[in-house]
Amino acid sequence: MRMYDIIMKKRNGGELTTEEINFFIEGYTNGEIPDYQVSALMMAIYFQKMNTRETAELTQAMVESGEIMDLSSIHGIKVDKHSTGGVGDTTTLIVGPIVAAAGVPVAKMSGRGLGHTGGTIDKLESFAGFQVDLPIEKFIGNVNEIGIALAGQTANLAPADKKLYALRDVTATVDNLSLIAGSIMSKKIASGADAIVLDVKTGSGAFMKTEEDSFALARAMVDIGTHTKRNTIAVVTDMDQPLGYAIGNALEVKEAIDVLNGKGPEDLRELCLTLASQMLVLGEKAATDTEARVILEEIIASGAGLQKFADFVEAQGGDPEWVKNPDRLPTAAREIPVLATQSGVVSSIEAESVGIAGLLLGAGRETKASKIDLAVGILLKKKIGDPVEAGEALAVLHVNDEAKVEEATARLRKAYGISESAESPKLIKGIVRSDETIKF
Ligand code: URA
Ligand code: CA
Repeated sequence: MRMYDIIMKKRNGGELTTEEINFFIEGYTNGEIPDYQVSALMMAIYFQKMNTRETAELTQAMVESGEIMDLSSIHGIKVDKHSTGGVGDTTTLIVGPIVAAAGVPVAKMSGRGLGHTGGTIDKLESFAGFQVDLPIEKFIGNVNEIGIALAGQTANLAPADKKLYALRDVTATVDNLSLIAGSIMSKKIASGADAIVLDVKTGSGAFMKTEEDSFALARAMVDIGTHTKRNTIAVVTDMDQPLGYAIGNALEVKEAIDVLNGKGPEDLRELCLTLASQMLVLGEKAATDTEARVILEEIIASGAGLQKFADFVEAQGGDPEWVKNPDRLPTAAREIPVLATQSGVVSSIEAESVGIAGLLLGAGRETKASKIDLAVGILLKKKIGDPVEAGEALAVLHVNDEAKVEEATARLRKAYGISESAESPKLIKGIVRSDETIKF
């Protein structure tokens, strides 16, 4: 078999066989096939696309390119959740504990933040002493004992995807549905999930800007799940503005604790209940979304979700008292309001710009090597649909180092659109299952 023939076949619109897909993934992973040939193939796939079978087989080949987590000694159906990326997305910190409290084992691999989006691991490190480098035995032991554990991604998970993603990033071939869907699903499957709930973001702050593209991505990922025998459900949700009010590590942890206390922002709570309900259904702890929601609301109301979060923090080296007294989490030295310069109604909040403003204050990483400040970030005071007077605060910056305050303020002010009238966007746009697509 020759890589040249595979490139030409796809360039001419042909359908790749299982053997051809395995050949190029194996050859690329072990260094036998050079970047320039794989670049050409990625561009051919970009223009000619791949069908459902090719996409599923590409995913499976990427899964098999490295280590596959063996979580078979965890009792129960392991349901993972994945978000396609957002700003201020604190859902994992809430969904993990409430789902675990309902009896679905949560064995989660998470990443660190890069660029304007945050990472769950960074947020959890707001608890002094929190450990993510758990040996596999301890990781599995914690899931079996308290129902939840979280670890950093191991280096050898889907290495083909790591190489391909880096290559696509510099060859203008990231935004192909099959390649994105395969990339995300390969990592979920390799990390041992039996079933997967996907939060596919749509809007200005998302990867996919239109609902049409977002539903198509959701469908592509659900189809991969069906093909690889992982029950998969995707929820398409709004990212036309940041989720909740907090952006920044410790600030988001405090916001998550608010929700676990039965308070917190309505959109964040609603999204968490929606995603967690789907996880309970896939984990066979509830027959329907409606039944699941009743269970989950009770878990929040009774404090069982908050207690589970405290147990989880303690099991990984943090002080569970901080969950009860979140004021002990890192706090910034100064709070500086960003004032509106005109009156009206908030009509848009560019999530990416808000994320960049947070990054400028030190809440995120410019490069993999940057150090982050866990205490700093932004608390939004106004969301889409809220009336605002000139001189009123749109947001409050939580600051330690004042060097970039001016730049962050300008970014944030520009992120806000203010007009005569506007309505709050619908949060949940629809659900994609193997056999149906429902749009709300
Ligand atoms: N996220 C991924 O992990 N892969 C992609 O291709 C795009 C987004
Ligand atoms: Ca938030």
